[in-house]
Amino acid sequence: MCGIFAYLNFLTPKSRRDVIDILLKGLQRMEYRGYDSAGLAIDASNDKNDPHGEVILVRKSGKVKMLEDCVWSNTEMDMDMVYNIHCGIAHTRWATHGSPKDINSHPQRSNNANEFLVVHNGIITNYREIKEYLIRKGHQFESETDTEVIAKLVQHIHDRYPTLNFRQLVETVIQQLEGAFALAFKSSKFPGQLVASRRGSPLLVGIKSKSRLSTDHFPVYYSKARRYQSTTTADDTLELMTPSANDSITQSPAPAPGMVERTASTTEIRPFDSKHWEAEYFVASDASAIIEHTKQVIFLEDDDVAWVNEGTLTIHRIKRGDQAPQTREVQSLNMELQQIMKGNFKTFMQKEIFEQPDSAVNTMRGRVLENGQVVLGGIKDFAADIKRCRRLIFVACGTSYNSAIACRQIMEELTELPVVLELASDFLDRETPIFRDDVCFFISQSGETADTLNALRYCKPRGALLIGITNTVGSSICRESHCGVHVNAGPEIGVASTKAYTSQILALVMFALVMSEDRISMQARRKEIIDALKNLPDLIREVLELNDKVLDIAKHVYKERSMLIMGRGFNFATCLEGALKIKELSYMHCEGIMSGELKHGPLAMVDDSMTIIMIICRDNVYNKSLNALQQVIAREGSPIIIADSEVDEVDLAGMERVLRVPRTVDCVQNILSVIPLQLLSYHIAELNGRNVDRPRNLAKSVTVE
Ligand code: F6R
Repeated sequence: MCGIFAYLNFLTPKSRRDVIDILLKGLQRMEYRGYDSAGLAIDASNDKNDPHGEVILVRKSGKVKMLEDCVWSNTEMDMDMVYNIHCGIAHTRWATHGSPKDINSHPQRSNNANEFLVVHNGIITNYREIKEYLIRKGHQFESETDTEVIAKLVQHIHDRYPTLNFRQLVETVIQQLEGAFALAFKSSKFPGQLVASRRGSPLLVGIKSKSRLSTDHFPVYYSKARRYQSTTTADDTLELMTPSANDSITQSPAPAPGMVERTASTTEIRPFDSKHWEAEYFVASDASAIIEHTKQVIFLEDDDVAWVNEGTLTIHRIKRGDQAPQTREVQSLNMELQQIMKGNFKTFMQKEIFEQPDSAVNTMRGRVLENGQVVLGGIKDFAADIKRCRRLIFVACGTSYNSAIACRQIMEELTELPVVLELASDFLDRETPIFRDDVCFFISQSGETADTLNALRYCKPRGALLIGITNTVGSSICRESHCGVHVNAGPEIGVASTKAYTSQILALVMFALVMSEDRISMQARRKEIIDALKNLPDLIREVLELNDKVLDIAKHVYKERSMLIMGRGFNFATCLEGALKIKELSYMHCEGIMSGELKHGPLAMVDDSMTIIMIICRDNVYNKSLNALQQVIAREGSPIIIADSEVDEVDLAGMERVLRVPRTVDCVQNILSVIPLQLLSYHIAELNGRNVDRPRNLAKSVTVE
């Protein structure tokens, strides 16, 4: 859902080629977030110490590669020009407002002279009002984006109040914005400076320096806020942003006890312990764009304004008395570059499917212990409260929601609590009643999905306990929940979720095991599951060996227009997840069907021409699954079967296409049965010539509602 990237070097000489290369690499790493257009802005100056002057803006519809070709083929730029200080901003887009064409690409600009430029991830919900106001004030718009109002608003305020510095301008602007944003600004008026801010969309700042950082906690400065008087008039509501008479910038009220009351001064907080330092700063929507440069990062909080000026980073807030912590910790990224590279695989999705033996180990590492105990450090202080709750509510979207369906049965069995499943969007639409004694889980690979995050924010004031199940350390869901479990599947770059899904199932099963640890009556069942978990990575490896067989099946079905996947019990989620993968990757219609529902409608679709996949496992619904198979055969259907190794040959008599997966305990059998479907969706898409890592119209991280 758009990726933003910015780079600033201070006294670290870099050629224009280097700077462009860093910006383009940053975009490539984040291209999975959006890939319908891209752009960048860099300095035009030819003076290595003085980047004053014009800004070059390049924007292109299409993938980052199109931008890359366009930039490198530009013969007017001196690529060998070396800068001691330089600031560049860049963007890869997933269109929300305005179609993917050059003019709607970011950076968006304030005027033809490119005085203020901004890259944006999110949606500004009050952009129409701001746009109307700015048009009345004489600004002319060139794009259909919501983002352009931000660039024009900075310009407008700068023109009226030229004494405000870059950071103050941005602080003023974000006070007028509603909606979600992560922003990075560049300006020819403030060369060598970079300002970034966020609300609702993720943003982190990477710091790379030769000198050691003198602090691992950056203080937050409560800026002298510009309080604007409400001079609202009926016809010009945005006069709200007019400062009180004589441009007075009023001091905020006294800070809450213990809060830092200082105005930022670049001399007082040099973050390096040497007087002469060289530093590089990176701002990105995602750690994967930063990791190859530095592991030292600061995750910004909502409404933070990060400002790099004279080579020093300071973090500011205008809001007072809020709950945000008063320092921003410099954290070390726990990620390696090769984790976000394709290696020998053709696509990220293929790599991620084949990584599942390892991602499963990583999810369970240090949690499923040799002595049979299961430990989840992230929830241990809350276990007693959870056990006393009224109900467990699982809120998620897409594949993450399917993981909740996959685990509902074991969760009910081991916790003996009512389990409610909610699609985040519907949960919000219904304004679902939530109570203090509810425990709400927010499951999200990215930890940033807008619907899931908004559902969390809806539940918070209602007093429920909030548990985040995410794959992204430092994500908004992680930070805003009371406690949680990291699924630790490692970075997932392919837009279609695979290893995160299987790791989410494991995380939820481990949660159910923790909740039942003191139930004597459940010890045998718990032992059966824990023993199975220990063997699971090897069994996943065995399933992956079916790859060639799955490819053969894909070659027979990839031209079909429609497909049905049927199953029940622990494997109903497998059907939904398999169908979702096939739909999103190959754009083929595919439906996951609870086989208990066959007689209630879907059976009408079955005939000798319909492609059907049935999942049959030797679990508590074995006989019912065999009944469903007979119903399909009786209507001339000849399904492809995914069966575990304990399903009797005789029960599958006459079936020509059978994929046998190893047998494990019922509640994680769905991990083994979903992998052939992941592979099938992958091969069908490849055979149809689809872009497997970046299916059309989708983005990895959906940070808008
Ligand atoms: C499908 C897929 C999506 C996501 C959904 C939620 O392959 O990946 O359905 O599962 O957009 O995303 P997260 O898990 O990041 O909240």
